[in-house]
Amino acid sequence: MIKTARVRALTIIILACVLGGCTSVPKQSLYKEIGGHKTLNTIYGVAITRIYTDPVIGHYFKGVPKKHLRDQLVLQICELIGGPCEYNGKTMLESHTGLNIKEREFYILVEYVQGAMRDVGLTYQQENRILKKLAPIKYQTVNL
Ligand code: HEM
Repeated sequence: MIKTARVRALTIIILACVLGGCTSVPKQSLYKEIGGHKTLNTIYGVAITRIYTDPVIGHYFKGVPKKHLRDQLVLQICELIGGPCEYNGKTMLESHTGLNIKEREFYILVEYVQGAMRDVGLTYQQENRILKKLAPIKYQTVNL
């Protein structure tokens, strides 16, 4: 009788742990969750093709090597979403000062990144978590 009660109590504890997450398993980074470098490289590959040919913002990228920009963008976002990367490019102020990018142009670019995230199958939640990282960068890229 006592034994049965003990088994029942233990079962409840184990169930609570499994359902409530009482173990200290480290949370997987967003970087890993979305598929790491391969996914980011695809997202920026798709976005950059569209950005470079956009009638409003395409002209900014004349003479900017696609591969260089793609690699830097991947590195930067990788670092921002918990990946094992260290962005080593120019600061955002360095690379955007003097371009006189308008706020609406910033949103055009971000929409291309968002569209590419959707195209590769990220969830809205994953998309929003990445957009949240990009949003503050606006102040280091526009009206400079
Ligand atoms: C969230 C927004 C943005 C992010 C995260 C971002 C990020 C970057 C990064 C990582 C680089 C490479 C820096 C390097 O070469 O080391 C770069 C360069 C550049 N970005 Fe952005 N950028 C953003 C918005 C924009 C916008 C809105 C435009 C134009 C419409 C723009 C135009 C450029 C150009 C032309 C370069 C090349 C500059 C050069 O090599 O001289 N960026 N950006």
